[in-house]
Amino acid sequence: MIASRRNHLIRPLVQELHAYVPGEQPKIKGLVKLNTNENPYPPSPRVLRAVKAAVDGRLRLYPNPTAELVREKLATLHGCQPENIIVGNGSDELLALAIRGFVEPTGRPLRPRPAEVVQYFTPSYSLYPVLADTHGAAKNAVPLKADFNLPTVAELKKGRQWSFEAALSLVTTPNAPSGHGYATVALEKLCQAQRGVVVLDEAYVDFAAENAGALALKYPHVLVSRTFSKAYSLCFQRVGYFVGHADLIGALHKIRDSYNVNGLGQVAAAATLDDLPYYRANFQRIIATRERLSRDLAGLGFIVLPSQTNFILTQPPQFSAADWLQKLRAEKILVRWFSAPAIQDYLRITIGTPAEAAALVKAVRKILGSGRRAPAARK
Ligand SMILES: Cc1ncc(COP(=O)(O)O)c(C=O)c1O
Repeated sequence: MIASRRNHLIRPLVQELHAYVPGEQPKIKGLVKLNTNENPYPPSPRVLRAVKAAVDGRLRLYPNPTAELVREKLATLHGCQPENIIVGNGSDELLALAIRGFVEPTGRPLRPRPAEVVQYFTPSYSLYPVLADTHGAAKNAVPLKADFNLPTVAELKKGRQWSFEAALSLVTTPNAPSGHGYATVALEKLCQAQRGVVVLDEAYVDFAAENAGALALKYPHVLVSRTFSKAYSLCFQRVGYFVGHADLIGALHKIRDSYNVNGLGQVAAAATLDDLPYYRANFQRIIATRERLSRDLAGLGFIVLPSQTNFILTQPPQFSAADWLQKLRAEKILVRWFSAPAIQDYLRITIGTPAEAAALVKAVRKILGSGRRAPAARK
């Protein structure tokens, strides 16, 4: 709850902070939940067995402090050493650590030094500004191109808003909430131009045509962020990781909590890495549903942006996007709408199972049908 008057017990920075708003997690029976980019398929039977088998008297013990087994398995997967990997309580924790580890809090937000700047493109992951504010860092939010594509280095130089000296640049790739995939060659050019640390936030990369993972091992100032949440059906367990140069990774290890990754999360992540074909089959199912749903919605008058993720961003016809959110909710379909001006005309829809996609299309047809009988003005 926000205090109505100043509380001298709380830092002014925290009193003024606008907290991150996560998507709703309602417990409504029969609700088709397409609002938080969760995977519609459960973890593999092998992962569920491993987690269940770990629930016994050993819960009294602390977990491995460095998530050693998970780091070893990830090192094999990425062709690097465990020293190149840090595991976090979700990738969110690691993004916060990156800001704490690489960016100075600013004493003068209006004219910050490059060492005090966290920069990112907009629209992208709305947690970044909250993390920067929490640390007291300066923010540099630079708009993407009008079609949500990544500006080239030449365009960024011409625009003069982007800083090539900023202490930390956070690039969501593929982007959220647009769903746009960025070419690795374009990302590499951007990385080459940056003097500070670059985090390529690849939370959705398993649904994309290419990934930029190799850049983390090629450049000493580039980190790649991945998560078990989306593609590996483990949101509940909170496990994410960074890959990168041992110096940067070592710095983050110094400032993390001693036991930052819970034991059952480590068990689940390790078992996941032993069962990758199960998940790769799910990526293909989700991509197929995404393409089918995109075509179906386009056929009903929606403008659907091409997506390389497990969600689509779409501009709906006939009613405002905010109205669509409510109308779909009345049909027990929950999607996400953001009030930010650049995307307020869009809905972000997570790709569910084919049955969930069919339920969405059915609800859309019903809403459009009733709209045609009693047309409502766009707000
Ligand atoms: C772009 C992006 N990065 C990171 C995350 C955080 O994922 P995690 O569950 O690993 O904290 C999300 C979650 O929505 C995201 O959209």
